[in-house]
Amino acid sequence: MSDRVKEVVPDLIYAIRSTLKKHGVTFEEYGAAMQYLIRVQETGEVPLFVDAFFNATIVEIDNVTREGTQADIQGPYYLNSEAYQIISERLPHRPIDENAQDMVIRGQITDTDGNPLAGAELDIWHSTPDGLYSGVHDGIDAKYCRGRVITDAQGRYSVKSKLPVPYQIPNQGPTGELLEQHLGRHSWRPAHIHFWARADGRRDLINQAYFENGEWVGDDCCETDHLDLVVPELIENGARVMEVNFALDPALAIA
Ligand code: DHB
Ligand code: FE
Repeated sequence: MSDRVKEVVPDLIYAIRSTLKKHGVTFEEYGAAMQYLIRVQETGEVPLFVDAFFNATIVEIDNVTREGTQADIQGPYYLNSEAYQIISERLPHRPIDENAQDMVIRGQITDTDGNPLAGAELDIWHSTPDGLYSGVHDGIDAKYCRGRVITDAQGRYSVKSKLPVPYQIPNQGPTGELLEQHLGRHSWRPAHIHFWARADGRRDLINQAYFENGEWVGDDCCETDHLDLVVPELIENGARVMEVNFALDPALAIA
């Protein structure tokens, strides 16, 4: 690690210094930037701030070495492995969501040659139909809109749930202020479904699927749209079908 620090940090400092020089940044601006960073710390927004601006970049770097399905950001709301019960039929939803739009999430997990991966595990999580995450917002029990599916002999999985909606990242603090008031951006993510796929001998894949023609698709505040996982519109028996396939790379050799 310390070799890496020596490699990376001087370049990082050089890049920041070059930017300050390029724009002739003044003492006053320097002080304002420092006050801003102090506010990010004091409001507990360090993870939000760092993720909003840099998480997608680390994913992009990770993707350079992937031949199969590209990864996407994890986001802050996976919780932990214990929050995922094995589901065969339907992810649990709150009683008040009983009449919300149905969704079927299905697909196949294969290796990079297209061979089915049987017994692969897929953790799925998404927002409620009113844009909240269980276990995080409004005291919603962590079991809702989450579950683990296991692929069958053909590597296939299928599970029902309720349709999520676009999600607004917290915008009342300094991160939202920077995005909305100073950078002319916004704090919305398109409706999405999170996945974490695992199979023996394969590299873990964390990614997200988006809804074709959904609001904010292609204009995500986290700058993370992977257009290969924007799923075409398909309705079957009144349910929006999200067909999401994953090709998993071989596990990385342990150095
Ligand atoms: C954030 C929330 C998400 O649900 C997500 O997928 C990515 C980021 C956030 O609050 O930063
Ligand atoms: Fe999310």
